[in-house]
Formats: sequence, structure tokens, C-alpha cells
Amino acid sequence: MRILVTGGAGYIGSVSVERLLAAGHAVWVLDDTSTGHAAAVPPEVRFSRSTYADENQVTRLLVDNAIEAILHCAARSLVGESIRNPSIYYRANVVGGVALLEAARRAGVERFVFSSTAAVYGVPVASPITELAPLDPINPYGETKRTFEGALRWYGTAYGLRSIALRYFNVAGASERNGEDHDPETHLVPTIIGALVSSLPMTLFGGDYPTPDGTPIRDYIHVEDLADAHLLALEATSEPIQPGVEAAVPLNLGTGTGFSVREVLAAAEKVVGKPVPHTIGPRRAGDPPILVASAERAREVLGWTPRRGSLTEMIGSAWQWRQTHPGGYDQA
Ligand code: UFG
Repeated sequence: MRILVTGGAGYIGSVSVERLLAAGHAVWVLDDTSTGHAAAVPPEVRFSRSTYADENQVTRLLVDNAIEAILHCAARSLVGESIRNPSIYYRANVVGGVALLEAARRAGVERFVFSSTAAVYGVPVASPITELAPLDPINPYGETKRTFEGALRWYGTAYGLRSIALRYFNVAGASERNGEDHDPETHLVPTIIGALVSSLPMTLFGGDYPTPDGTPIRDYIHVEDLADAHLLALEATSEPIQPGVEAAVPLNLGTGTGFSVREVLAAAEKVVGKPVPHTIGPRRAGDPPILVASAERAREVLGWTPRRGSLTEMIGSAWQWRQTHPGGYDQA
């Protein structure tokens, strides 16, 4: 398959590109490197360092290269930033996303896989969360992803676009080649690793949640398991995904097991063999107490099973990547 990956220079996009190449697909990457890294794109991949939001340019790219499917990973993805500055989230995730859909429509590309998020659910009413749970995002990040999922549904009904929206839970870990390198870094696992490397204390955002140890519970999934799901999802769009039911299918990607922030800290201490310096601070705005996926539907529709579900594997691989990339991509 000839596949365009937007955001292929980012954390999840780059590991997914590795997986697609390993499966024998031809890959093009479109990434403006505003948050991604050119060094994350392997040399054999055709790489356009520009935005997915330029409809005319993207249409040309799709037509000239006879692209058959799009994996849309590029987005703004920080909850806190989205609350402070919703404008950039609506512009990038909704306006830019629709420009990409229009380019796909003009070029006749009918297969689409989208990086969505558990943030579309907001504070869940029941756990584990199934895809039938109400969508009630509590921040602009989740809201803009939900809005784009809606566009996929209606483009499916009207124009025959076959799409899968992958609702990621908490992605962690690294491949041998690619890992997490954000500036600023806000995610738990790389923040823990940063604290272990620098010996400067990190902050736990709240110790008074209604959970057994008072810290929030999340469903962590290894980025390479996520990449496997992307490959399967792209392959599944070759024909109507669930004939007669929907042209756009949302799927949760998690392991179905939750770990608290303190459990993640304890696992990191075991992997690295030293204590994680930390303090307890106030809660972070927009953080639900518990987010755990039911991943049954992804199993049924894609035949996907996460194979690297232990915290040890996720943290161990992230630690290993940090050893080989002490300054991230730019100073590797
Ligand atoms: N946390 C800390 N200290 C830190 C960083 C994180 O205590 O320095 C805590 C957070 O409060 C949260 C947990 O660790 O309880 C995980 O936080 P992350 O920032 O790693 O991840 P989030 O759960 O906030 O967000 C992730 C994705 C979002 C997605 C969300 C939905 O990054 O894109 O999961 O599940 F929307």
C-alpha cells in the first residue's frame, strides 16, 4: 500500500512509520517538524517538511504519488496548552484536518486512519471505557479530536471515506530507533526519566484523588503495540470495515489495565535501580481520576492484541532510548 503519514516525524508517527516499512508498505511523511524531528524519519522515506493543512499542496502530493491511504497522526496534543489557547487547537486539529480531508476527497483517497484520544470521553461515567460511552470532553484538545471524528463519520456517509479513529490511552515506551522527545515534556514516563537523570524532583499532580493510593490511574500502552494497531487499521480500511454498519469506526487502544502514578514511579525505580526524586503538588486542571480502556472492540475488529503490556517493558525501553539519545534527537 502507498501510505501518507502526517506527523511521521513525531513520537507515535515515527514508530508507526517503522512498522509500516517493516510490513513492506511504501511510506511518505508529511510533517512541518513544529513538534516532530526530521531525524526521526528514516532516510529511505520520502519526506515533505510542510503542513497537512495546505489543501492544494496536499492534493498534489496525493495525486502525484498515487497515495492509497492516509495515516493522520499530526496534531496539537497538549491538554494544558489547549485550555490556555484553544485557537491553535481549532485551527490545527479541526480547520487543518478538514483541509486534509478535502485533499483526500479531491485526490480520491478513500482510506483514512486517525490518531484520536481517550480525551474524547472526558470524565468517564463507567470503567473500563467502551466506545459506546458518552463523548463529553473536558478540554479543547479532546473537543477538537471529537469534532474531527464527527467529520470522518459524515465524510464516510456522504463520500464513501472508510476510516478508523484510534482512541489512544496513555502511550509510553520507545522502539530502538525512535522515542519521546517533546519540548516542553509533560508526559509522565519521560518526566520520570528526566528526574532520574537530572536528580531534580518532579511533581506528582495531586495525591488526593479517589483512588487507592490517591494518585490518578491510567491505561499505559507501549508505542510499538500502538504501531501494530495502526498497521492493522490501515489494512482493515481496504473494504467496508463493518458492512452496513458504519463507514467510520472508533476503536480504543489500551491494555485494559490501569496503573496509578505511584505505581509507575515504583516500576521506574525497579527498572533503573534508584529512587525517583519527587514532591506532591496540586492537581493539574483537566486530569480525570481514572481512564482505563476496554480494548475488546479493537481485538474483534482488528485482531489486535497488545503484546508489551508491562510497565517494565515500557519504562525499560524509554530508559534505553534515553541512554542512546541523551540529548534527544537534536543532540544525539
Ligand atoms: N503526571 C504527574 N506529573 C507529571 C506528569 C504527569 O503527576 O509531571 C500525572 C498526570 O497528572 C496524570 C498521569 O501522570 O495523572 C499521566 O499524565 P500524562 O501527562 O502522561 O498523560 P495524560 O493522562 O494527561 O494524557 C494522555 C495523553 C493525552 C490524552 C490523555 C487521555 O497525553 O493526549 O492521555 O488519556 F488525551
